[in-house]
Amino acid sequence: MGTKILGIETSCDETAAAVVEDGSRIISNVVASQIDVHARYGGVVPEVASRQHLLTIIPVINRAMTEVAWQGISGIAVTFGPGLAGSLLVGVNAAKAIALARKLPVIGVNHLEAHIYANWLDSSSLCGETRRVSFPCLCLIVSGGHSDLVLMKGHGQFEKLGRTRDDAAGEAFDKAARILGLGYPGGPAIERAASSGTPCLPLPRAWLKQSHDFSFSGLKTALWLLVQKGGFSVADVAASFQLAVADVLVAKTIAAARQFKVEQILLSGGVAANIALTRRFLASSPVPVLIPPPHLCTDNASMVAACGYHHLQAGRISGYDLDVVPSLSIG
Ligand code: KG4
Ligand code: ZN
Repeated sequence: MGTKILGIETSCDETAAAVVEDGSRIISNVVASQIDVHARYGGVVPEVASRQHLLTIIPVINRAMTEVAWQGISGIAVTFGPGLAGSLLVGVNAAKAIALARKLPVIGVNHLEAHIYANWLDSSSLCGETRRVSFPCLCLIVSGGHSDLVLMKGHGQFEKLGRTRDDAAGEAFDKAARILGLGYPGGPAIERAASSGTPCLPLPRAWLKQSHDFSFSGLKTALWLLVQKGGFSVADVAASFQLAVADVLVAKTIAAARQFKVEQILLSGGVAANIALTRRFLASSPVPVLIPPPHLCTDNASMVAACGYHHLQAGRISGYDLDVVPSLSIG
């Protein structure tokens, strides 16, 4: 019998629990999304998010454990940062309470590292030919709060090469969708609108040459100015915006992959669910690109359990005094 880890994730607006065996086989994966609760405000309201986590955390964990005996669980992995303090506290305290009661180790997991570990989960094989991760690899984490380019030399060995200097890629999608009146969350809304448009409008790309950093706030401002001028279809604006983001993410990631001579590129985070982006990566990368299926790109607890498994293997467990670190970074 393999090593089963219960993963818990509450860093933002998804309450999630999952059981994963040996860091790769998903036994259960439960995600309770709060999108409907926050949609009317146009974004996540932190106080509302933590209250919602409190309501759903125990039912979500119970559902994830429906088919699994507690005796079969080897540890509880939980996201302790980065994220919203009040939201993180709900997951961390639930994990600590259960771990203490069940005499299990609690394993604090960095949410950004967890996103990367979605690539170890069994169903992560979009590129077809290869699914096994080989080191060194280059990880692009593109989520609502982060756009990080990270060199991974082995389990737990991360070196941050670049980050966003202003808006994260997902944040740019969310803000662009708001400007275009497409609603929240913006990424899927822009992707839908873009599917019937052509990327024919000129929008800027911030290349930031000599650096692996990203910047998306200029693009957002250019989009706003374009919309003020008017006379264009929303579909064409959405398609042009999506292409501008993809151009920069793909070109800069591939340049770094060449420079650091990596074996593979690993995509992760909510924006990696974008099909136009992943198609572009697959078409132009000189090395294999691993991309989790869309539901494992966005926040989930299977990736937390997969990451926690490797921590446990390396003997990296936390104490029952584990606390949240809202501003935690990677590398
Ligand atoms: O990783 P994630 O679920 O949560 C964070 O850790 O932030 O990422 C959420 C972000 C949001 O900004 C959302 O608009 C974006 O990922 N996103 C997408 C798509 N699906 C989600 N962006 C572009 N295209 C998508 N299909
Ligand atoms: Zn995330």
